[in-house]
Amino acid sequence: MGRRNLILGVDVGTTKVAAVVGEPLEDGRTSVVGVGTSASRGIRKGVVVDIEATVRAVAEAVEKAERMAGARIRSAYVAIAGSHLGSTNNRGVVAVAREDREITAQDVERVMEAARVVSIPPDREIVHVIPRQFVVDGNDGIRDPVGMLGVRLEVEAHIVTGSITSIQNLLRSVYRAGLEVEEVVVSSLASAEAVLLPAEKDLGAVVMDLGGGTCDLAVFSGGSLFFTSTLPVGGEHITGDVAVGLRTPIPQAEKIKVERGLARAELASEAAMVDIPSLAGQEPRQVSERVLAEIIYPRVQEIFSLVGREIKRSGFPGLIPGGVVVTGGAAQLRGLTDVGAAELGLPVRLGVPEEVCGLDDIVGNPAFSTGVGLLRYAARARGEAAAGGRTSGARSALSRLAAWLKEMI
Ligand SMILES: Nc1ncnc2c1ncn2[C@@H]1O[C@H](COP(=O)(O)OP(=O)(O)OP(=O)(O)O)[C@@H](O)[C@H]1O
Ligand SMILES: [Mg+2]
Repeated sequence: MGRRNLILGVDVGTTKVAAVVGEPLEDGRTSVVGVGTSASRGIRKGVVVDIEATVRAVAEAVEKAERMAGARIRSAYVAIAGSHLGSTNNRGVVAVAREDREITAQDVERVMEAARVVSIPPDREIVHVIPRQFVVDGNDGIRDPVGMLGVRLEVEAHIVTGSITSIQNLLRSVYRAGLEVEEVVVSSLASAEAVLLPAEKDLGAVVMDLGGGTCDLAVFSGGSLFFTSTLPVGGEHITGDVAVGLRTPIPQAEKIKVERGLARAELASEAAMVDIPSLAGQEPRQVSERVLAEIIYPRVQEIFSLVGREIKRSGFPGLIPGGVVVTGGAAQLRGLTDVGAAELGLPVRLGVPEEVCGLDDIVGNPAFSTGVGLLRYAARARGEAAAGGRTSGARSALSRLAAWLKEMI
């Protein structure tokens, strides 16, 4: 323990809990050295609904990942999702403190504190305050103002809030599994860390993590986070449609979807037949791939139309030049990106964890984007903290909540 600079990411998803252990490399990549998954039973639409079941699933996934990594890691970066999350942009302004007008890390901390003063209902808590850009005496577009000269320091920040109860139940599940919580990170932001290319972030792009029960969205503009939200739709809905359409139970429908599913009838051949396993007292049946695609298509189209509405709601001006990057387990459905491009009128590509090396089942797998993204987020946060950066202010509210919660348990 402690030998290596290992990081543990825990993604408590609707279908699976994924624990990922990795190490930041000198060249900026992340080496994944352990992964563990377990079937998730206590989560609905991204939110903990059964603590006991979630504790067991987290403990199982973490134990597997630690065994593979050959190390015990007792504190984790934890992803959070759910439609209780909301986001807004706010500004903070302070006067530079030093007589000689040099901007210090303390000024940055104070301006970040000023930006987090937003009115939120008593049942909500701030999860992130992320600086989008700093403005020094009216000059905007500044990424790091420390060391510059100025009188007036402003920040434009992206603020993510969530329901205290939902956050507490997630934290409690992780503590009860025997872990400390290093930081809570919005899942869409974590996924974006894993799949978005820097050029896409700069141009303006949307990350869409389509999981089992949720679709997490993050909109980037000018290199930083601009809007986040979670829609309560995912692969489970597609499976549900296949089950109804083919009159077959959910587990069979899931298998048929994963093995033979298509989102676009044009890609299907009328001649390719799909077996539907027979139930007791039923004759074995077959349908064409085309019929299967016709069942799946409307749901996929609906998901993208909801995403399109969210993009509009985000207030992103104009088109999104970097397009949409779809990731998450359900992004693997054949033809899904084609349907997205047609529905949104934007370029849509499949995103898998980039800049990672190590375990093969992780590197190209979109179901692990959130987990791997947590490692990348952590590596960056630690780097900034080491460089005297500004993550501490952003964390304080949740750390306070975390400390309080631990006393309760
Ligand atoms: N090859 C495939 N084709 C189509 N769908 C797939 C495929 N593989 C997995 N899926 C779907 O991906 C979904 C699970 O994705 P993922 O593992 O990202 O979810 P999760 O993170 O547990 O859930 P969430 O993010 O919604 O909380 C399931 O609905 C599953 O059916
Ligand atoms: Mg997920």
